[in-house]
Amino acid sequence: MQAKILILHGDGIGPEVTRVGQQVLQVIARNFGHNFTLEEALLGHQAIQLTGQPLPDETLNKAKNCDAILLGAVGHPMYDNNPKAVVRPEQGILRLRKELGLFANLRPIQVFDELLEASPIKSEILRGSDILFFRELTGGIYFGTPRERRDNGQTAVDTCIYTREEVKRIAAMAFEAAQKRKKKVTSVDKANVLETSRLWREVVNEVAQSYPDVELEHQLVDSMTMKLISQPSKYDVILTENLFGDILTDEASQIVGSMGLLASASIGSNVGLFEPIHGSAPDIAGQNIANPIASVLSVALLFQIGLGLQEEASAVVGAVKKTLAKGYRTRDIKDANTEPNKILGTREMGEVIIENI
Ligand code: IPM
Ligand code: MN
Repeated sequence: MQAKILILHGDGIGPEVTRVGQQVLQVIARNFGHNFTLEEALLGHQAIQLTGQPLPDETLNKAKNCDAILLGAVGHPMYDNNPKAVVRPEQGILRLRKELGLFANLRPIQVFDELLEASPIKSEILRGSDILFFRELTGGIYFGTPRERRDNGQTAVDTCIYTREEVKRIAAMAFEAAQKRKKKVTSVDKANVLETSRLWREVVNEVAQSYPDVELEHQLVDSMTMKLISQPSKYDVILTENLFGDILTDEASQIVGSMGLLASASIGSNVGLFEPIHGSAPDIAGQNIANPIASVLSVALLFQIGLGLQEEASAVVGAVKKTLAKGYRTRDIKDANTEPNKILGTREMGEVIIENI
């Protein structure tokens, strides 16, 4: 297969983990006889420093003219500590999602048996957990306007907006996925308080009528945070809006053991974007200690969902499992049983995974 793949390294640990993902792409291309053209472009803080824009036009053009995108992470503490900054790295990724029409963010939460001890949650609670999150990605409070300061900066306004159509298209995707899984959708909202959540629930109920074989339950987001860690194996597909999905999936990373393990796929148009759910982690950037597995698993999703290459995706996931089964760990997922010589840095973990492909 011929494919043009755009690599957006981004900030912090982004370039370190994405370099491993990039190597995996190259090895799979060689082993399976594909011709992947890998291009690179700027995004986030890195892009602001060089061009003044978090999403330069050149990056957006390349993104619109490729077959799939692999992204690292964006963000820098310089802006978090400066509430007055008008241009921010995160604006780059948010605009990219919006411009490309990537309204559905899929975040699979699958427990690796080898890593049951890496999670702070008891193994007997975790075992068998396999959840697929559908997070709405281009609506809600992330994008609604007005968004501004008033009264000389003494008041701040954000706006949460959802249209019927926005809810309908992501709900339909979640139900379709559930039909191929355990046939259960849990829709998460705050319908006891928010009008957008009442619309959300109404539309999800309507969409459900077309999928009579799928069981639907509604869950309020506050109680969902609790149930997600007390009974994670009860869930199959979890469908939710943008902000709730952002928060719940960080929480869900603790089911698997580490943020460094979770990959995501953003879809909705002809170009998919694949990225770890973790951020730029400035505290550990540049030290070769970040876990590259989320980036490697993002490449697996890129194959599976982005390019429809199932065998290639399985080869990548298989290599990660094999590496873990042999006892190799990065610092974030080591436990009392890990042999000290098997605690690896970012690059070394990448090398072992690649040997196992
Ligand atoms: C994520 C991130 C982003 C988000 C940030 C970087 C804008 O936290 O992908 O989960 O909030 O969507
Ligand atoms: Mn997030």
